[in-house]
Amino acid sequence: MKEPAALMEPMLPAQGLKELEDMAMELAKKGNALAGTLHPIVRQSLGDLVRSVNCYYSNLIEGHDTHPRDIDKALVDDLSGDPVRRNLQLEAKAHIEVQRMIDKGEAPPVIPSKEFLLWVHFEFSSRLPDDLLWIENPDTGEKLEVIPGEIRKSEVAVGRHIPPLAKNLDPFLTRFEQAYAPEKLSQVQQVIAIAASHHRLTWIHPFLDGNGRVARLYSHAWLLESEIGSSLWSVSRGLARNIDEYKARLMAADAPRKGDLDGRGNLSHEELKNFCQYFLGVCIDQIEFMAKLLNIDNFVTRMNIHIQEEVALKRLPKESFSLLREALYVGEFKRGRAAEITGYQDRKAREVLSALVDKGYLVSDTERSPVRLGFPGEAVERWLPKLYPTFS
Ligand SMILES: Nc1ncnc2c1ncn2[C@@H]1O[C@H](COP(=O)(O)OP(=O)(O)OP(=O)(O)O)[C@@H](O)[C@H]1O
Ligand SMILES: [Mg+2]
Repeated sequence: MKEPAALMEPMLPAQGLKELEDMAMELAKKGNALAGTLHPIVRQSLGDLVRSVNCYYSNLIEGHDTHPRDIDKALVDDLSGDPVRRNLQLEAKAHIEVQRMIDKGEAPPVIPSKEFLLWVHFEFSSRLPDDLLWIENPDTGEKLEVIPGEIRKSEVAVGRHIPPLAKNLDPFLTRFEQAYAPEKLSQVQQVIAIAASHHRLTWIHPFLDGNGRVARLYSHAWLLESEIGSSLWSVSRGLARNIDEYKARLMAADAPRKGDLDGRGNLSHEELKNFCQYFLGVCIDQIEFMAKLLNIDNFVTRMNIHIQEEVALKRLPKESFSLLREALYVGEFKRGRAAEITGYQDRKAREVLSALVDKGYLVSDTERSPVRLGFPGEAVERWLPKLYPTFS
């Protein structure tokens, strides 16, 4: 009898598919080039922002719509009195903290390993409130507890797809590790493996809950490790642009082989290739979107228009823009330099600086330390339009 893991083949599309390989190359090139012009300090602040964006969209795919304002509040432990909103805030915070550890290189390095997947699941789930750690079996109504970092011990269904039996998960995960081990793959195959493994991981569905979030963090981590990803763009934003399409594409790739010309595995080669093209296309699109948004000339222009408007409405003092532009270009500056930058007397310059700090346009670690650019909600809407959907 065949090993159960053979049911998951093929793990990768065949080599030499020109369109797919060209996409993988394009993704690698564009990912490497993103935001090279931004000051590293600005890049770091943007990274914080985009981690919130990634969390927002990954939870949205799961049907959990947590308003960005609630996410910001969660990060400073300002939690809602309403238990449902509070749980979503804690979930958002958990997602952001796990991604931050990944981005800072604090996760187990080996991707794609079972160890890494268990780590993500453990770190994410152990930060969730108890209410979010119970799921109900839709057929029996039985309540099951999600144990952080534990492979599931019971059976699940994902739409029409029935993932492997719990007792067989080990061989599937072992095959997963082997098939995608980067050292055995060419550079271009590694990029394609990032896409293919996203499907195969959700297909295995190793956990009782959280498979989608873990899979999306896993894809982010592997892109990052390949130096294609960065904390400056979000895979989940791309997948969430059309959630129905993402799920339909996953479902299509669950299809069994369609006749003699469709590869030699149990699952369809053609559909796996299609999924990979879809996934790589989503990544390329997101990088292009962020590259346009972060184009420095356009960014400064949008910032200027917005700030002049705030000045005209008397919500910010004159010369606010000169301080923000300085922070954008040099990353951070000492508070004492405000007079020189604005051309004002010391006292007046400090007033401008305080107004910007009060509204979160400039931030710093302590009251006296240098200031850097901040991204309060209204600035995000104006300087980085469409990063989030429009909220009325
Ligand atoms: N037909 C499918 N084949 C494979 N994977 C799928 C399919 N449909 C959905 N998925 C994946 O499973 C995830 C959600 O499934 P489900 O809600 O059962 O899992 P989960 O463990 O609750 O994940 P999460 O809570 O993080 O979304 C989706 O986000 C998607 O990544
Ligand atoms: Mg779920």
